[in-house]
Amino acid sequence: MPKKLYIKTYGCQMNVYDSVRMADALAPLGYAKTASPEEADFVILNTCHIREKASEKVYSELGRLRPLKAAAAAEGRQVLLGVAGCVAQAEGEEMLRRAPVVDLVFGPQTYHRLPEMVTRLLAGEGGGLVDTDFPLESKFDHLPEEGASQGAAAFLSVQEGCDKFCSFCVVPYTRGAEFSRPVAEVVAEAKRLVASGALEITLLGQNVNAYHGDGPDGATWGLGRLLRRLAEIEGLARLRYTTSHPRDMDAELIATHRDEPKIMPYLHLPVQSGSDRILSAMNRKHSADDYRRIVGELRNARPDLALSSDFIVGFPGERDLDFAATLRLVTDVGYAQAYSFKYSPRPGTPASSIEEQVPEAIKTERLSALQQLIDAQQLAFNHAKIGERLEVLLEKPGKRAGQLIGRSPWMQSVVVEAPERLIGHIIEVDIEAAHGNSLAGRVVTLDCASESHIARTVFAQTGAA
Ligand code: 5AD
Ligand code: SF4
Repeated sequence: MPKKLYIKTYGCQMNVYDSVRMADALAPLGYAKTASPEEADFVILNTCHIREKASEKVYSELGRLRPLKAAAAAEGRQVLLGVAGCVAQAEGEEMLRRAPVVDLVFGPQTYHRLPEMVTRLLAGEGGGLVDTDFPLESKFDHLPEEGASQGAAAFLSVQEGCDKFCSFCVVPYTRGAEFSRPVAEVVAEAKRLVASGALEITLLGQNVNAYHGDGPDGATWGLGRLLRRLAEIEGLARLRYTTSHPRDMDAELIATHRDEPKIMPYLHLPVQSGSDRILSAMNRKHSADDYRRIVGELRNARPDLALSSDFIVGFPGERDLDFAATLRLVTDVGYAQAYSFKYSPRPGTPASSIEEQVPEAIKTERLSALQQLIDAQQLAFNHAKIGERLEVLLEKPGKRAGQLIGRSPWMQSVVVEAPERLIGHIIEVDIEAAHGNSLAGRVVTLDCASESHIARTVFAQTGAA
């Protein structure tokens, strides 16, 4: 009987990708994925450290899993419990001490060693294993090729780690130093994803536009050049990348947005604050006007480019004037969407020891004002699409029977009535309604052959699934 693997993933898309690759690493040992923890032989929590009280939340989840493991043991079944990701990296040995129910703790750079760890545990080397190294060898050299298809919209990790050390952020500590995968390896993985049904690939990296991979010509390639190469892959219709840092938005990458229509006109470009004083305290090494200039250049290159961002309110020392500058920047740029967070100290980061912390009530007030402004911009952006005909990549069934959900070029969720067989296709949709978080519309044409031609047949809505 195949053994069952249950992975619960928290946090960013990089973790989603890592979870897929953990399953790939464990497949040769006979582990198949299951959606229910109760029937699993191996439960992995792939954790995220970016949010507040991240470790506490993981410990309470482990508390909830303890009875499950005990119940299986009573039936004579051994269940392994593993903690992966950034909380595992940060806690290390401490996790085994606080939660002895855990069998193995491993970081984002060591999961290629899972088969060896699991084999040792199953052979009775109990007591818990911890592997939170930053090994010299790359996990990508040791992972098997991707197994299960990721579907029509796939992720591909091209860069990991961060050398920027923003003063609020744990990523440089949990993910380690910047590392880029070689171009040939990325291209080969992209081709395999396309062969298994991907029409869209999102390149992932904590600092993806800092990509500097070894090219096949012996030169170091930046992200722009990599994107141009990937755009040549036949059958691939859409390219995206996330997350970027303003400082790495170089001229070549900006020009790629102008030249390469497969790059979708949507960019997540976090700025965190609109105040130069706060940006400097955050160690961002760019000003608000630098950001405005970069956005201007991007929009010159690709006039329909929509932007998204991350903001932190209540960073230590943030005054009313600083926050007003953030609101001004948001007004100037105009976002299609953005995430905003209250600053919360992360142990070990420089900002956590700054004396002048902002009171909670003020953070709450500022967050709500910022979110109101962003929500209004998002709604306006979505409303502007009513009456337009958009290409939508259908990804999954919607909430109601007969509905499917896809993504517009601008990352908007689009809900349509369509048969399930259209999942994995790019179709044309006439947008009829817009809400804060989604659009709704009517299917017009069906693009079976993806990029090569769009079949201009009016699609019958009654078509069977
Ligand atoms: N407090 C609040 N928000 C944070 N982020 C990262 N660290 C912190 C922190 N200590 C936010 C940033 C980042 C996003 C992924 O999470 O805005 O871009
Ligand atoms: Fe964190 Fe800054 Fe690196 Fe982004 S660029 S991962 S915010 S340190």
